[in-house]
Amino acid sequence: MTIPRPAAVVVLAAGEGTRMRSAVPKVLHTLAGRSMLGHAVTTARALEPERVVVVVRHGREAVVEHLAQIDPEALVADQDEIPGTGRAVQVALAALDAAQQVDGSIVVMAGDVPLLDAGTLQQLLLAHHEDADAVTVLTTEVADPTGYGRVLREPGTGDVAGVVEEKDADDQQREIREINTSTYVFDAAVLRSALTRLGRDNAAGEVYLTDVLAIARGDGGRVRALRTDDTLSVEGVNDRVQLAVLRAELNRRILEDWMRSGVTVVDPATTWVDVDVDLAQDVTLLPGTQLFGATTVASGATIGPDTTLTDVEVGPGASVVRSHGSLAVIAAGATVGPFSYLRPGTVLGEGGKIGAFVETKNAVIGTGSKVPHLSYIGDATIGDHTNIGAASVTANYDGTTKHRTTIGSHVRIGADTMLVAPVTVGDGAFTGAGTVVRRDVPPGALAVNATSQRTVENWVQRTRPDSAAAEAAARARGLRPPDDPAPAADPTPAPEDKDTAR
Ligand code: UD1
Ligand code: CA
Repeated sequence: MTIPRPAAVVVLAAGEGTRMRSAVPKVLHTLAGRSMLGHAVTTARALEPERVVVVVRHGREAVVEHLAQIDPEALVADQDEIPGTGRAVQVALAALDAAQQVDGSIVVMAGDVPLLDAGTLQQLLLAHHEDADAVTVLTTEVADPTGYGRVLREPGTGDVAGVVEEKDADDQQREIREINTSTYVFDAAVLRSALTRLGRDNAAGEVYLTDVLAIARGDGGRVRALRTDDTLSVEGVNDRVQLAVLRAELNRRILEDWMRSGVTVVDPATTWVDVDVDLAQDVTLLPGTQLFGATTVASGATIGPDTTLTDVEVGPGASVVRSHGSLAVIAAGATVGPFSYLRPGTVLGEGGKIGAFVETKNAVIGTGSKVPHLSYIGDATIGDHTNIGAASVTANYDGTTKHRTTIGSHVRIGADTMLVAPVTVGDGAFTGAGTVVRRDVPPGALAVNATSQRTVENWVQRTRPDSAAAEAAARARGLRPPDDPAPAADPTPAPEDKDTAR
């Protein structure tokens, strides 16, 4: 059966969220790389409604700005000082009707129920249309219903007679464990009519959306409930403790989906994967791996242990060990780590290597090229099959401006080479250990500029005669027996200093 499309989805996000104790509006708190509002709007859009409207009030500016980024098409409805979910839907419907009167079904959902999935809402829509309901409400049974609206069922039919809020319920009603999840499908005409008749004559003095159910029932409409067993999927977030519980649950669900589609997750408890991450078959995630943002990992690649990647593209068969990266590309068969830091603009070519204790930024490293140890490569282009010796650095910053280093293919950069940018090293060129490259090196040339070594004989003996170093030196020169502990005066006179060319 085709799933009926709603005319509109209303997302309620005007509430204050006091218990979050945060300067950030509640619905902007995130889980799995998406705000709670983002989760709600994504779910709403999956139903392909004609329009989505978000009701705002508390933290309006921040919420509206965020909404413009994630869903610029969504309408904004401003709730006024009149409190309550009923008021929120009144302003939402007014905003919708102002453009064009809504006809058909309207889904209402809360902006702080991040695990609510489109599949559940589609079931709710199906039930609503199959039975030609006036209102269909999503409910669940909980062990402790304190604080929730209780669902009153009619004896016999099991239809819904209404919802009574905790504050207004009598002792017998408080025993009911079936609760309203604040998720509904309304017939637009029924909703429009009932909203005009809501009062504030209740314990909270608020305009209750839940009163619409009894009104619709009184008008002769059919009000039904769809009960879900998946209580966590309909749980709202009121504080950061609940947010953490739902974040862990969402992560568990995301990992379960990936495992079922062929990803090995060695330790789900310490592995975190955002909703927008994409993983291929036979990817292996080792303990302590966090994949954030729009990270993608191709088949056969291994990530971890203890690796954090944000918006990184990892190619087939690549491996990233104990490293941290963002906005980087790691091509097929390349290896990274342990202990490296790939900053934005890093592109590591096929079969390439960024080894241990290496930092890279805006660096394009060609096929088969290697930066194996203790280096900084920033604002650089390196060709193919080039090797960068240990502890080499691109000195890309002159204190004012950043400059680029260009290194060709089949280059051998000696250990501890300083490449003072802007500078170019041609294809097939070499640099000696300790070279400071300030001028371009032509293809095939060797650049060396380490000065000759000056060796001052017996310098230790003269300047610190009683030191352990002096003793060690004396032993090494056979001037004292290896087991003689007492320092002795050096019998040999200090020779002239002499330079030893290397
Ligand atoms: C509401 C329901 C209750 C249900 C519970 C589920 C009513 C009267 N009660 O309780 O039956 O069991 O949700 O969590 O509807 N909001 C607004 N404007 C407001 C008030 C709330 O937009 O004036 C939004 C909130 O931002 C939130 C949602 O509505 O997204 C629910 O609000 P909340 O205060 O948590 O629910 P209650 O009214 O306590
Ligand atoms: Ca709530």
